[in-house]
Amino acid sequence: MKLANKLVKKWQTIGKIAGKLLLLYASTSKLAMERGLHERDRVGVQDFVLLEDFENEEAFIDNLRKRFQENIIYTYIGPVLISVNPYKNLDIYSENHIKEYRNKHFFEIPPHIFAITDNAFRSLIEENQGQCVLISGESGSGKTEASKKVLEYIAACSGHQTTVEGVKDKLLKSNPVLEAFGNAKTNRNENSSRFGKYMDVQFDFTGTPIGGNILNYLLEKSRVVSQNSGERNFHIFYQLLAGESDDKLQSLNLTRNLNNYVYLSDGQRGSVSNINDAENFRTVKQAMTIIDFSADEQNEIFSIIASVLHLGNINFTEDGGNSKVLEVDTVASASKLLGVNTDELTAALTNRTIDARGDVVTSPLSRDMAIYARDALAKAVYDRLFSWLVTRLNISLQAKDLHGARNNVMGILDIYGFEIFQKNNFEQFCINFCNEKLQQLFIELTLKSEQDEYRREGIEWVPVEYFDNKVICNLIEEKFKGIISILDEECLRPGDATDITFLEKLTHQLSDHPHYICHEKSSTQIQKTMGRNEFRLVHYAGEVTYNVNGFLDKNNDLLFRDLKETMSKASNSIVRICFPELEYKSKKRPETAVTQFKSSLNNLMDILMCKEPSYIRCIKPNDLQSPGAFNNDLVLHQVKYLGLMENLRVRRAGFAYRRTYEMFLNRYKCLSKSTWPNYNGSAKSGVKILVKELNYGPEDYRIGETKLFIRFPKTLFDTEDAFQLKKHDIAAILQAHWRGRVQRKKYVKLRQQVIVLQSYCRRHLAQQAIKRKREAVEKVRAFIKGFITRNDPPNGYNEAFIANCKRMWLLRLSKELPTKVLDKSWPSAPKHCQEASTYLHRLQRLHLARVYRLKLSAERKRQMELKVLAEKVFKDKKNNYPGSIGQLFQNDRIPKEHATQINNFVATAFGSERLAYSSTCVKYDRHGYKSRDRFVLLSTKALYVLDGKTYKQKHRLPLDKIDFVLTNHSDDLMVIRIPLDLKKDKGDLILVIPYIIEFSTYIIDTVGTANIISIVSRDSLEHNVVKGKSGVIDIQTGAQPGIVRDKSGHLVVIAGQ
Ligand SMILES: Nc1ncnc2c1ncn2[C@@H]1O[C@H](COP(=O)(O)OP(=O)(O)O)[C@@H](O)[C@H]1O
Ligand SMILES: [Mg+2]
Repeated sequence: MKLANKLVKKWQTIGKIAGKLLLLYASTSKLAMERGLHERDRVGVQDFVLLEDFENEEAFIDNLRKRFQENIIYTYIGPVLISVNPYKNLDIYSENHIKEYRNKHFFEIPPHIFAITDNAFRSLIEENQGQCVLISGESGSGKTEASKKVLEYIAACSGHQTTVEGVKDKLLKSNPVLEAFGNAKTNRNENSSRFGKYMDVQFDFTGTPIGGNILNYLLEKSRVVSQNSGERNFHIFYQLLAGESDDKLQSLNLTRNLNNYVYLSDGQRGSVSNINDAENFRTVKQAMTIIDFSADEQNEIFSIIASVLHLGNINFTEDGGNSKVLEVDTVASASKLLGVNTDELTAALTNRTIDARGDVVTSPLSRDMAIYARDALAKAVYDRLFSWLVTRLNISLQAKDLHGARNNVMGILDIYGFEIFQKNNFEQFCINFCNEKLQQLFIELTLKSEQDEYRREGIEWVPVEYFDNKVICNLIEEKFKGIISILDEECLRPGDATDITFLEKLTHQLSDHPHYICHEKSSTQIQKTMGRNEFRLVHYAGEVTYNVNGFLDKNNDLLFRDLKETMSKASNSIVRICFPELEYKSKKRPETAVTQFKSSLNNLMDILMCKEPSYIRCIKPNDLQSPGAFNNDLVLHQVKYLGLMENLRVRRAGFAYRRTYEMFLNRYKCLSKSTWPNYNGSAKSGVKILVKELNYGPEDYRIGETKLFIRFPKTLFDTEDAFQLKKHDIAAILQAHWRGRVQRKKYVKLRQQVIVLQSYCRRHLAQQAIKRKREAVEKVRAFIKGFITRNDPPNGYNEAFIANCKRMWLLRLSKELPTKVLDKSWPSAPKHCQEASTYLHRLQRLHLARVYRLKLSAERKRQMELKVLAEKVFKDKKNNYPGSIGQLFQNDRIPKEHATQINNFVATAFGSERLAYSSTCVKYDRHGYKSRDRFVLLSTKALYVLDGKTYKQKHRLPLDKIDFVLTNHSDDLMVIRIPLDLKKDKGDLILVIPYIIEFSTYIIDTVGTANIISIVSRDSLEHNVVKGKSGVIDIQTGAQPGIVRDKSGHLVVIAGQ
């Protein structure tokens, strides 16, 4: 959760930054808008809605002209774009321009075809609303160019994945192919579309084009066989001859000379200086490859084109009413290219078979009829090839995956414009009918529906007068009464129906119609301007006079059964597909051309009605295709018939923008706290709150029944701006929540994983623990068994027990080992370890002793040696020995005051001898046992006895001559036995030495043997006196140790107890 909070914060800050960036962006785009306003002042108004004198036609034209002269060809009437053909290339379609118009508000930047496309494109993506761009205008006013710009823009705007590139390429490349086969040079337009085209581009939900579909309408096929003076056949013929290789041309039996072909030489000006046919041919071939046309398909296509040229060159003679082919070779060439039998084709061109209720009758054709049949074939072949091309293109453009693309369709309608020629034929009739229908659609979707809507929504409204051309549409297409019905009737009627009988019927039935003018019933003035075989229609765009010549033929569109049959057997597969067997075998009459056209138009209207339209109204500034020329009258005429003035009037009176409350609330509810995130009341009341909070002025909007109406684009523009800013905040919040969720999901998953892992670990640990416990129990049990049977013969348990005992004892021992030499304690040992214990004890003691020894100083060592020596000699032999143990031995027991004298003596008397011990002592005379103080000094050689007062030497007794006697009692008596040869010393010496054990030890140490001292365990002791006499010393024990002379004359030594 903490993580999620962090993320929320992080995203909020990112959102804020994005918001600031957006503000920055908004301010820069406002700059662009201001620039646009500035330009507006300079060159008129960029939206006619801003025109002050908006009901004045002159002011209208003036504005258009001013802008046109400044090369500003685009102007709005609200959302409708007016485009004036500049007839020169302007630098306004570059990549940069595309970028500039990308995702900008419609009213923010100067009018442009990109702006209107972007607007439609965004509605498509954001609101999922199908769109159509309706481009209308006269021939040469720039419709086809406009449609290409629209396509280029949406291609440039969408993503750049490779798959998309393929689709976009195909969409864009379909144009050169269609134009090569369907466009031609006319006197008004060097690249005039001779067919109507409606193209659907399909998008996926991201706005990426995924496919397309093209509908084609009424190719002007008569152009294949004849053209007006100054005009050309379809481009592809010229392109093939100019651009194809010599080899290829030869294989098609063609030469480059245009004059060799009847179908091309009619128009006189075959080559046109500013059309590069060879170059265009390469472009077409390249485009065909991109659209996946196989080499075989391309071969077959160009074979058909070549065959049409050959067909045109077939001539006939007549012999007794029977036509005969003149150029057999040419027929052979054509049949070879079409893949049909030459004889069969020849026969089919010169004969007609009629199946009249089972009676099959073949009759030869006259020369005229043969020519008619030939031209009909050429037209049919070309026309059907064109339709096949469109079908084939559609297969290539088919979206691979239509999932979710149902609503995301943008249609582009580029259909032939209104045509008023000197001589108008069946084709012009159809084309102008089509334009009437489109105008009707325009009225339906804009003028009428707009006003109807105000009425429906209960908005106060002053109705605007406009011309509703419904009446003309009805004149043409009404069932049973309309021109089309009458024409069809004439075509189907048995008997001698001719164009003239058709005209008569028209006049008969329609002469009262305000939009129908006939020669017969008109004033002479009008009659002067009309032929007898003509009728005139007052179209919404002006009066057009039609010559009925050829109406029936063209409407019947008759192709003889023989030719159909021959074609159906062609080996050229395209030809075979175009002429199905079923067709010629069918007994049913095919629908007439105009009926087919009518139903395809109605179909188109249905398609367009369910989409949101964007209008581009193209205007031709002059008839000369010249840049810069602006013909006021010509433009005014177009402005009038396009209904632009009415359009503007309605626009001015109306509201720029409207949306259902639900849609408006849904989009902008985030702009008010009261409506965000959900508003509980009705959408209408929500919107009321919203507009109040958005500070809409009372004139800025109206509340309708189901919709909100906003008068000025700017109001909406501000709201949209605020929304765009807010959108980022909301996106940030959503993003944060979403990210939080994702993280939480991750966390929960991770946690679960951890828990699983943990449970595994725990199980493992628990298993181990139980194993350990079990082992412990086993151990305890074995231990107890071992304990119980510890004294039994080895049985495994007791062995382990004993081993453990030993181990434990050793462990205990290691911790309780005595650390002092004198510490003789020793931990008790179990039974089995007694031996080891004793052994170890000894080892330990040895070890401690050794350590002790090693640590001893020389002095201490000597002390020790002396002590050991003393122990050896005196332990258990002399009773006062234990009393000596506690005291350290010293070799100098002379009180301090005597030290100097003694030292002097030693220095003078000792010579090389070394003093080993010195002490005070008491000497008892041999006679009378009088006690006298003496010093005794032990040297390495002798024992010196000095006078206690004078320090004079009394005795020097060499150690090798004397020995010492001690008693075993606790006394300090020492008798020194002196041999007779040392008699000058007059018998044994009786001394009492204060540290008798110490002194004795030093003596033994000095002499090197204990034999020098004998310890007697007697109660009396004899000692020599001079001349063999002896005295007795008695030893007694008592509480008061001392020495006294008893009555018997014995010396009595009282030893301690
Ligand atoms: N926007 C434009 N910029 C430059 N030239 C244009 C533009 N629109 C049209 N033209 C010129 O006018 C000619 C006729 O335009 P086109 O679109 O074929 O007319 P339409 O389809 O209405 O008959 C083009 O061949 C081109 O030379
Ligand atoms: Mg065109």
